[in-house]
Amino acid sequence: MNSPEKCEIDTTADCGEIDTLDKMRWWQRATIYQVLIQSFQDTNGDGKGDIRGVVNRLDYFVTLGVDVIWIAPIYQSPMSDMGYDISDYYTVNPIFGSMEDMELLISETHKRDMKIILDIALNHTSSEHQWFQTSRRSRKDRSLGKRDWYFWSEGKVDETGKRIPPNNWESTFTGSTWEWDDMAEEFYLHIFGKNQPDLNWDCEDVRQALYNVLRFWLDKGIDGFRLDTMNLVSKTSEFPDAPIVKKGSIWQPANFLFANGPHIHEYLQEMYEQVFSKYDVVTLGEMSCGVSPAQAVEYTSRHKPRPELSLVIQFQHVELDCYDGDKWLLREWELPELKAVINEWQATLIDNGGWNTLWMENHDQPRAISRFTTSHPRFRALCAKLLCVWQYTLQGTNLIFQGQELGMVNPGMFTEEMNQDIETAQYWKAACEAAGSEHDEALTLAKKAIIQKGRDNTRIPIPWTDAPHGGFTEPDCKPWIPASEHGKDWCCFSQQKDPESVWSFYRAMIRMRKNHPTLYYGTYETLDMDNPFIWAYKRRSKLRCYLTILNFSSGATSWAYAEHGVDLKGSKLLISNYLTQEATLVEPILLLRPFEGRLKSSQVSSSTPRQLAKKAWQEESDSAAVPIRVFFISSSVFSLRQDDRGTRQSPTSSDGQPTTVPEDE
Ligand code: NOJ
Ligand code: CA
Repeated sequence: MNSPEKCEIDTTADCGEIDTLDKMRWWQRATIYQVLIQSFQDTNGDGKGDIRGVVNRLDYFVTLGVDVIWIAPIYQSPMSDMGYDISDYYTVNPIFGSMEDMELLISETHKRDMKIILDIALNHTSSEHQWFQTSRRSRKDRSLGKRDWYFWSEGKVDETGKRIPPNNWESTFTGSTWEWDDMAEEFYLHIFGKNQPDLNWDCEDVRQALYNVLRFWLDKGIDGFRLDTMNLVSKTSEFPDAPIVKKGSIWQPANFLFANGPHIHEYLQEMYEQVFSKYDVVTLGEMSCGVSPAQAVEYTSRHKPRPELSLVIQFQHVELDCYDGDKWLLREWELPELKAVINEWQATLIDNGGWNTLWMENHDQPRAISRFTTSHPRFRALCAKLLCVWQYTLQGTNLIFQGQELGMVNPGMFTEEMNQDIETAQYWKAACEAAGSEHDEALTLAKKAIIQKGRDNTRIPIPWTDAPHGGFTEPDCKPWIPASEHGKDWCCFSQQKDPESVWSFYRAMIRMRKNHPTLYYGTYETLDMDNPFIWAYKRRSKLRCYLTILNFSSGATSWAYAEHGVDLKGSKLLISNYLTQEATLVEPILLLRPFEGRLKSSQVSSSTPRQLAKKAWQEESDSAAVPIRVFFISSSVFSLRQDDRGTRQSPTSSDGQPTTVPEDE
């Protein structure tokens, strides 16, 4: 075995204000697991996941180490946008079950010492919602009320005398944001689908009605909400045209005109004061149409006299692969760009009393392995683990999406059957209409974009077993969307039995983080920023220091760490995604294998009194004393052995078992 590297990371850290566990809120330490209920587990053979399916799998979350489950919208809905088109906030969609099922889910989750949050859209309703039906009628008959609950406009008249929308805003799901309504004889605003009219938050009654909805569910005992598109609820009072950036198109991106609007902070503060302040909850504000780190501070900083949200879900790191915010225009990106985005978020939020969310994929985004690394079978497991080390060693609250812990990748194919998502279907329809012929190059590009970015990439059912449809539904039932072929090795059942699987790695990382709370609250500092292959960063508290080193390339590479002020004397390898011992150290250079990720730790410098360090370490260990399994083997062999098909083989240790590294002494 190699002699352990000596290590001392010499620093006296300034670790900001949150430097002890007891100053932290429960949600700051949490792993929040997103359940897309329709694709999770079907229990009644209709091919759609349901609430009972989640209840039946609650112990699964406990085993994995999840703290909070986030449930996709379960309300009454015509389901034109996976339930983000709500037609009744107070009723459970019978596709998913009943109110009794929901109550059971809440109580069974709590029995297991976990928390549960619901996903809710407050920016818009379904056009089938009674509120909208009343509003459209009341354009002609004021006495019905709710006249101003949505945005209505007579529009403009073009040179031919035809009524046209009042402005050129482009809907997130292509086309205009305005739809003509025959009954009202006016246009209404819909930033998303035409069946999703935007609510007018400037109307006090709307806000009060929504607060009642929130109270209803909070009183049922839930622990918070993921608030859909929450930075869109205050719009500009005028509706000016957006500047022309898309040549040849009538409809122009207008995110900056409808996001983070003039009354947004006022409304969020009011919502906090009237609703959330009365409960011990987490609020996760999704901000898909643009939020900068500075704006996120405005929404979440604990220094603000009037609180708003606990967390925001930001998107800049997943927008690097598109041009000008257009998700379908594919763009190549370089690692330093990704580092720059994450650096800015980490630093700005840590320094200003905010708190980051850490996430890589969700029901709107493709799989992270395919996006940030490669789905190639030879590297798939390594990449899954590399990304896990990345996500679990940054500062913030971790969000993971179902199947991420299994190393799921994009299915990588295009079929009409796969394109059920409204956004993808509308984009494809528009691309076909615009194309000159079936073989138009533009259509080829559109297909490629859908294969890489379409939302159905992550919406396919999870493979629980190697049974037909991955055990998601009965063998003779048809799942609502085809389950992809994940094969025996990648299903949950196989992975849970395999201590070297991606699933076992996630489990270990979740536990490891609980054991090393500096990873929650420590400072963040990137080293060697311009390195195009390696991402290395330190996380520090007053008493401990961690170094994450990630090789984001498919080739072996080296890192001259001493040039970046790192001294590895006495450091300890806490976790690695390779099964074999790390490469021999050629001081002062580290050799890294393809997609290798390592986490090292050390106590902080000799200038810190030893006793103090011991005490801090003790506190950290006591907080969650769970032994961690690591994924390197005590062997001097460090090359990854693969067979001809690139499938992983057994590790090269003498006993073939992963070792358990004791906590730091
Ligand atoms: C964001 C949700 O995550 C997405 O799925 C939905 O289509 C839009 N908001 C509209 O509600
Ligand atoms: Ca079902």
